[in-house]
Amino acid sequence: MSTPIGIHDLAVATGRYSLDLAELAEHGNVDVDKYYIGLGQEKQSIVAADEDIVTMAAAAARPVLDRNGTDGIRTIMLATETGIDQSKSAAVYVHGLLGMPADVRAVELKQACYSGTSALQFAAGIVARNPEERVLVITSDVAWYDLDSSGEATQGAAAVAMLISANPKVAVLDTVAGLHTSDVQDFWRPNYRSTPVVDGKLSIDTYLSALEHAWADYTARGGHGIGEFHGFCYHQPFSRMAYKAHARLLEINGIEASRERLDADLAQTTRYGRIIGNSYSAALYIALFGVLDQQEDLTGETIGMFSYGSGCVSEFFSLTVVPGYRDTLDLERDREAVFGREPIDYATYRGLREATLPTDGSRAELPASGTGPYRLAAIDGHSRIYEAIEKQP
Ligand code: HMG
Repeated sequence: MSTPIGIHDLAVATGRYSLDLAELAEHGNVDVDKYYIGLGQEKQSIVAADEDIVTMAAAAARPVLDRNGTDGIRTIMLATETGIDQSKSAAVYVHGLLGMPADVRAVELKQACYSGTSALQFAAGIVARNPEERVLVITSDVAWYDLDSSGEATQGAAAVAMLISANPKVAVLDTVAGLHTSDVQDFWRPNYRSTPVVDGKLSIDTYLSALEHAWADYTARGGHGIGEFHGFCYHQPFSRMAYKAHARLLEINGIEASRERLDADLAQTTRYGRIIGNSYSAALYIALFGVLDQQEDLTGETIGMFSYGSGCVSEFFSLTVVPGYRDTLDLERDREAVFGREPIDYATYRGLREATLPTDGSRAELPASGTGPYRLAAIDGHSRIYEAIEKQP
């Protein structure tokens, strides 16, 4: 039997603030139940002025490195669709902030919300070639839509860092995966825009169709039967999307998608996405954090994972949980990252959204407002200047 490869450790980070969707509903004169019930979203994470995908990525990765060291890590892959540069990868900034050794390759991956899953699979390939190596995979995104657009209620921000290794201590990445790629204009962001162009209804239909195709490929390649999963994690732009998707999966497998069945399979996995919002590449792994955080012992259980990135690329795969996973993780710390956020009102949110950074090369200092271990201190000569705000161990 080949050496198992998978997630050896995992940690999460998110923005400093949370915006209750009641604030958005009041501003837009919308019935809040459209958000709370219709979308199944309560809150969204908002980044402080001195937080971005780099500071969140480094904040998520810090505890993983503190627990595991850097020995054997020769690759960092940072998956994002809200990159800060068209050329230099965000992984290089994170590498520097984390004080990692120089004999490492650091790259950024992109394919909408799917890229984190590609990083996971590529990492497994590197480890399969040399089981002594470990790979740091980080998913990090800040999801902004146009102000006053229908997408605004589905915003969010988070990062998840995962250490991928042989004989992992959290979950084995099972080898069968179902894939589906198709060229669709459901959601995309041209280089000259800071927010995406979205065809919301098409994106939902394309997501559901991609799930059917990826599942068919997964099944054809000898994947687990529908009854063999303990729970399901879906890429979660809003929690009702996971419910719509799971209902479709159950139906195509001839199972009635009753409310009880859907809740049993999804309540834990949608728990954090509901209050963080869409964190794009990180959203699926926030769902995984939710399932790992539940009290029930998941040892030996298999979790179905559906990754979707608009455009579109999707993958159905599975993870099998390893004995002792709760001793490896620091779930209390991760929970604190979510529940320790500071609520803000609509006016504060709008101020953060409307703030701009110089694009002419002049210097701007950012107010020290984030609470994480790293911050974006300034922009100067078109460079982003990051700093650690906590003494490194
Ligand atoms: P919308 O037009 O604001 O909302 O767009 P709606 O009118 O469709 O209403 C939403 C739901 O709320 C409906 O339920 C309504 O009935 C219900 P459904 O028909 O779906 O069951 N509703 C109410 N329920 C209770 N009480 C009420 C009430 N009023 C209405 N009073 C949309 C919603 C999600 C399309 C929009 O927010 C959007 O465009 N979001 C961004 C795109 C998106 O999230 N797409 C999801 C799939 S694609 C994906 O996941 C990829 C992505 O992450 C990007 C990437 O890959 O990089 C987005």
